[in-house]
Amino acid sequence: MLFEYVDRELYYEGLNVVHAIDKMRNILKKQFNYEGPFYLYHAPLFQKRAEILSRELPSSRFYYSVKSLSNVHMLKLLLKVERFGADVVSFGELYRAFKAGFRGEQIVFAGVGKSSAEIEAALENNIHCFHVESLSELERIACLATKKKKQAPIALRVNPDVMAKTHRHITTGRDQDKFGISRHEVDEALSMCKKKESLRFMGFHAHIGSQLWSVRPYIKTLRYLLELAQKAQENFGLGTSYLSLGGGFAVDYAIKKTKEREFPLAKLRKALEHLSPSYEVNFEPGRFISALSGVLVTKVEYLKGKKNYQIAVLDSGMNDLIRPALYTASHPILPVALRSHKKMRYDVVGPVCETADTFARKVNLNPLQEGDFLIIAHAGAYGSVMGSNYNSRPLLPEILYTGEDFEVIRRPQTYEDMLALELYDQVT
Ligand code: LLP
Repeated sequence: MLFEYVDRELYYEGLNVVHAIDKMRNILKKQFNYEGPFYLYHAPLFQKRAEILSRELPSSRFYYSVKSLSNVHMLKLLLKVERFGADVVSFGELYRAFKAGFRGEQIVFAGVGKSSAEIEAALENNIHCFHVESLSELERIACLATKKKKQAPIALRVNPDVMAKTHRHITTGRDQDKFGISRHEVDEALSMCKKKESLRFMGFHAHIGSQLWSVRPYIKTLRYLLELAQKAQENFGLGTSYLSLGGGFAVDYAIKKTKEREFPLAKLRKALEHLSPSYEVNFEPGRFISALSGVLVTKVEYLKGKKNYQIAVLDSGMNDLIRPALYTASHPILPVALRSHKKMRYDVVGPVCETADTFARKVNLNPLQEGDFLIIAHAGAYGSVMGSNYNSRPLLPEILYTGEDFEVIRRPQTYEDMLALELYDQVT
């Protein structure tokens, strides 16, 4: 089990969190005079999650979705996992992937609004493949590649018009979504690939959504991609060497007394073997690897009494972890040390001046006192990366548990860091 209490102390994949917090707070205090909340990542777990994919889907390649947790130190952990590369969506992520040690041929470049500067940088660095989202983008890539006397490797990101069951903000494969090339424009895109010498056609890509539990939409999408591969060959003489089904494998955001629910990878493997024996099918997992591998460590700053429950005000807020406010996502909240086995009702909120800054409403927790440490679990994916300076609150430090030791992999942002961008010393 990922989390368990032994003698009333919380363990996180074998790590005693009470001792860990003590150590990490000491490090942060000593090195940076910092006493606030922080993200803690579990390196062995992060690697284990990537290895599960590599083992369970042995004929696939994986391009880790950098956006889900993009600290360079975390990216480095994937360099050693078999058949892993990086999926980037901006120059910033490309830069991170290179800094971590990925080579161009291990990187795919996605994103619905790539700028010319980003396309040029990706061309110069010989990335493996562009996932192209529109006819205009295809035209632009062809033009920039011609100028550079290069051939741009491209896969068409198509919109399969598949409805995947998930939160409306993270479904991406319906025709009305902004992503991908619509069914009626695929022929034109293929004909452009055929005509333009500066384009090297590789195949097709689709990403239908995030936090998906069912294999069915993947199968439906794969069928569509295979149909397109056949069409590309028959009607345009274009051979397919690359197929990608994007990311999206769900993780269980609830804490279970027994084993956590897992995405049915074996079922997916069987479907791939059956449907696509001759193609390697690629994936871009993010959350599956990063979500469970990170927690937000935070403290109860104040308790306020209501009639039948209490409000616990934490020292971290929606600017540090926005998922509950943005998607009404629920993250497990776990006291680090239990005072008793009794339960009390709490609203758990942050300090930001908005009612949306609420991590949980009416949850039953073991009795809390001011100054107690809590963790907000399953916060590795889309946690720190979506953090902001809202309310002029600094970005949080990140600490990596290596399996033996703790390393600060992002220092706390200082107030000087924050104001430096505003060129405030030049304002008269
Ligand atoms: N590939 C593409 C093209 C994507 O757009 C995404 C995620 C992924 C791969 C990785 O998906 P994953 O395996 O992590 O589900 N901020 C939201 C999630 C946004 C997902 C955006 N795209 C959240 O906190 O739930």
